[in-house]
Amino acid sequence: MFDHLKELPADKILALMQAYKDDPRETKIDLGVGVYKNAEGVTPIMRAIKAAEKRWWETEETKAYTGLAGDPAFADALIGLVLGDSAHRDQVAAVATPGGTGAVRQAFELVKMANSGARVFVSDPTWPNHLSILKHLEMETVSYRYFDEASGGVDFDGMMADLGAVTPGDIVLLHGCCHNPTGANLTGPEWDAVIKLINETGAVPMIDIAYQGFGDGLEADAAGTRAVVAGCPEVLIAASCSKNFGIYRERTGLLMAVSHDTGKHKVTQGNLAYLNRQNFSFPPDHGARLVSLVLTTPDLRADWEAELEDVRLGMLDLRKQLAAELQRLSGSDRFGFVGQHRGMFSRLGLTPDHVEALRRDHAIYMVGDSRINIAGLNQTTVPILAKAIVAVGA
Ligand code: LMR
Repeated sequence: MFDHLKELPADKILALMQAYKDDPRETKIDLGVGVYKNAEGVTPIMRAIKAAEKRWWETEETKAYTGLAGDPAFADALIGLVLGDSAHRDQVAAVATPGGTGAVRQAFELVKMANSGARVFVSDPTWPNHLSILKHLEMETVSYRYFDEASGGVDFDGMMADLGAVTPGDIVLLHGCCHNPTGANLTGPEWDAVIKLINETGAVPMIDIAYQGFGDGLEADAAGTRAVVAGCPEVLIAASCSKNFGIYRERTGLLMAVSHDTGKHKVTQGNLAYLNRQNFSFPPDHGARLVSLVLTTPDLRADWEAELEDVRLGMLDLRKQLAAELQRLSGSDRFGFVGQHRGMFSRLGLTPDHVEALRRDHAIYMVGDSRINIAGLNQTTVPILAKAIVAVGA
């Protein structure tokens, strides 16, 4: 049987992680996978998470199964964090999932169950795993223009022109904030225009929000998602706790299906629970408990918000430093967008040859499309990166 299996293309981001690990050079710099690192190159356990773990260890009395949708307190807490008051609780069906990726996967499967002919419109570029999951599920994908290589900003006219082709029932996949891989994001009025277009065409928006709190702050980063939820009759939202709670390996995510028509809640909730049961039965619980403890315990929440804010401001400082250094060394403003982008990533607009030369000659690892993880830098390595970018002729 196994003779019939074909070799599959490696995931670009994960292959890069391995290549970096295998590189013996001591000066190597990892700007690949989207994992936060502090100035010492460590991915710390956040203080509030550590404290919640201790409290949970002291109070947890059983490891028996939770419900298929996960602990309801987790859904309540995360719905509050992501959606604010843009929807009533009874308008939101939700299940805990293994990470944000699990939520994305389940969302696509729900779409397929509801409308097998739905096409999914994705930004060009998008997180490569969106495309990979859609391909695996044999769902039709259509790209819409998103990134303007020349300016490093959003090609909003191109985006709107391409989204003009959506038809009723199609899905428009949007990044809630901190667009991955580009770092270029929609403004408030642009979100409003997208919402208007979606409603005019009868498409259904789906939002992947994996970096809330990494861009302009917890509230500001949720503003686009909340506007969509308030403004569109039906919305799917895949939320990840991996990055903003720093619990990558705990696999903690939530899939939300919002319908303004509360009569649909029971059936939608049932379908989401069914999908969990088919795919993995009960979702992981540990990370979800930590998140709900942090969000509902005032001292833990305040400490988590403070630490997350430090993380965010640290990345913003690195962005500004890199933009200034590139301007100084290249004598041009062409990399000014690095300071404008938000979140963990920026797409630098380098060629594959430049990216290869940076890896070969300077031991600097970034994804092939020239996406860098800003958190992979520190004040010492920013000038090294800037110098190397200029040295390879970019
Ligand atoms: C990334 O884009 O690097 C992260 O979302 C990690 C991943 O799973 O790809």
